[in-house]
Amino acid sequence: MSTNQAYDRREFLKAAAAAAGVASLPSLAFAQGAKIKIGLMLPYTGTYAQLGVAITNGFKLAVAESGGKLSGRELEYFTVDDESDPSKATDNANKLVTRDKVDVLIGTVHSGVEMGIVKIARETGVLHINPNAGADAATGALCAPNIFRTSFTNWQPAYPMGKVLADRGIKKVVTLTWNYGAGTESINGFKEGFTKAGGSVVKELLLPFPSVEFQPLLTEIASLKPQAVFVFFAGGGAAKFLKDWQAAGLKGKIGLYGTGFLTDGILESVGDAAEGIETTLHYGDGIETPKNKTFRLNYAKTYKLQPDVYAVQGYDAGLLLAAGLNAVKGDVSKKKEMIAAMEKVKIDSPRGAWTMSKAHNPIQDIYLRKVVGKENRVMGVAHKALADPARGCKMG
Ligand code: PHB
Repeated sequence: MSTNQAYDRREFLKAAAAAAGVASLPSLAFAQGAKIKIGLMLPYTGTYAQLGVAITNGFKLAVAESGGKLSGRELEYFTVDDESDPSKATDNANKLVTRDKVDVLIGTVHSGVEMGIVKIARETGVLHINPNAGADAATGALCAPNIFRTSFTNWQPAYPMGKVLADRGIKKVVTLTWNYGAGTESINGFKEGFTKAGGSVVKELLLPFPSVEFQPLLTEIASLKPQAVFVFFAGGGAAKFLKDWQAAGLKGKIGLYGTGFLTDGILESVGDAAEGIETTLHYGDGIETPKNKTFRLNYAKTYKLQPDVYAVQGYDAGLLLAAGLNAVKGDVSKKKEMIAAMEKVKIDSPRGAWTMSKAHNPIQDIYLRKVVGKENRVMGVAHKALADPARGCKMG
């Protein structure tokens, strides 16, 4: 039978099935064993380049561990460097969806770029898995059935640090971050937890993303002499910040705290500038579970690199997609059934098992960590099974 004949026959059967009120047939692409098209829209240049690479590695490790296929189907990758540039985000996402016709759009790191992906995902209905960007609205006011996240909201790892500091008798804090979604939402999350526990933020300092001109701000902090400083920085910018903080003589004088992005994935490159710094995050290097140990071993063997939180989030995106595909035996056209399965997952993650909230964001433990040598060591659980409040989400 030629492809056209097969198609005609299929269309006929579909119409007949519809007329008879029967569930639709498997898609043509599925019947022909076509590869599943995966769009990877991530930063591979700029301050977040290493984060994009770690996510890609983690995702591909999950695929390799399931035999190089998902639910028996091969994958074809369409990769775009989004440069962490929000002005190019909708164009980049649109090309992957309308030109390359990806079945799943996976990305990204930067919250501003994520807002562009969310717009395209909502307009086109493409299945979207976000393996990092914390933009609160993606699983808040802009939540949608086809939008999933395997990482965190910006609020989520920042909020518990407020109580940790207040419990130590810290009352007045200065905050510092890049002036964009992830920065300001992280600060707001921290502030919410801190003020609820009796503390107050006395000054909020900002610089544009991805500037690393920290010097004037460090001078200002030195003269303000706060009890502690809470920051959001990540990637190459975080490494530079930690070195500048130490060089300015502030290390050991003023307490420095942040979300764990401050010290994740950069310990090899900052010497002892990060030693002793405490952060809150949904992952820590030394989590003592068989799952984490196997993951770390396999990742290190495969990539000759140590994994970090970004690698974990990419890996979990692979596990989530596999769970969706397994429920439909690889027929990606059965999107509703896939979504239903993805909503019910319990992901056996290197970070610890987590479930999906009604808004499609992980409900997960937030750890208190401390840098010891080249390790983000887990010191305890700062908040057990924390769910983002998902403000404005009308789903579920
Ligand atoms: C974000 O822009 O949402 C973002 C970027 C890097 C991180 C965390 C959040 O490490």
